[in-house]
Amino acid sequence: MPEATIGVIGGSGLYAMAGLTDVEHVTLETPFGAPSDAYVIGTIAGRRVAFLPRHGVGHRFSPSEVPSRANIHGFKQLGVQYLVSISAVGSLREEYAPGHVVVPDQLYDRTKSLRPATFFDEGLVVHVAFDKPLDRTLADLIEQAAHAAGATCHRGGTLVVIEGPQFSTLAESQENRRAGFSLIGMTALPEAKLAREAEIAYATLALVTDYDCWHPDHDAVTVDSVIQVLRSNAALAQEIVRQVVPLIGDGFDSPSHHALASAIITDRAAIAP
Ligand code: ADE
Repeated sequence: MPEATIGVIGGSGLYAMAGLTDVEHVTLETPFGAPSDAYVIGTIAGRRVAFLPRHGVGHRFSPSEVPSRANIHGFKQLGVQYLVSISAVGSLREEYAPGHVVVPDQLYDRTKSLRPATFFDEGLVVHVAFDKPLDRTLADLIEQAAHAAGATCHRGGTLVVIEGPQFSTLAESQENRRAGFSLIGMTALPEAKLAREAEIAYATLALVTDYDCWHPDHDAVTVDSVIQVLRSNAALAQEIVRQVVPLIGDGFDSPSHHALASAIITDRAAIAP
C-alpha cells in the first residue's frame, strides 16, 4: 500500500494538484464504499502527499452525496495524519472579500442530518470531543503558507455548513450574519467529524468566492460566479499547499491524534439482552 502522511482534499474547482513528482494513482475500497475518486499521491518538498477531489473529477457528487466516510477512511488507510481541507465558501463579513482566503477556527452544523456522520453506527457507540473542530497548529501553518503564497489571508471566524445544494435565502443569510457566522459552505461537515473519529488532524483553507446574498452592493451568489472566482484561485490554492507541506515537515503531535483515548465508548453487544 502506498503511503502519505499529509492529505489534501480539494473542493469545487480544485480537481487536480500541479507540481507533484513521482505520481501514483491509488484506487481504494473501504467498508463504507468507494471514495469520490482515485487518490493522487505525489511528492512535494520530499514528502508524500495524497490528494483527493472531494466532488470527484468533473464534480460528480453534490455536497449531500460526497462519500465522506469512504474519503476519510481512504486517507486513514494511506497513513494520513494531517488533512488540509480546501473549500469554496461564501462570505458573511464585509472584510472577507471574494478572492481572499480565510483559515476559520470554528464550524457550525446546519446540515439536515442526511449525511452519515460517524464511523461507529454498528458495534460501538462513540462520542469524541469536538469542541475544537479544527486543528490549531495545522491552521497556523496554513495561515503562514497562505501569506507566503501572497494570498490576502484572514484568520478566524465560524464556518456554517448548510445542506444545500441550493444557496441560502436572503432571510437565512441575514440570520446567519446575526448569529455571528463569518463564512458559509456546504462540505466541511461531516468531513471534519469523521477526521476527528479517524484521529486525523484537520484544518480548513476556505476560498471566498462570493458574498452569499446579503450584501446590498453585490449580486446574489450564482454557480457561475463561484466557478469564475475559483478558476482564478485554483493556482493560489495549489501554491498554498506547496508552501504548507514543508511547514508540516516531520509533523507534530495533535490532540486529534488521541481523540479516541478520551472518547466515551460503549459496546452495544455488551449491553444487548
Ligand atoms: N460555497 C460557495 N459560496 C457559497 C455560498 N454562498 N453558500 C454556500 N456554499 C457556498
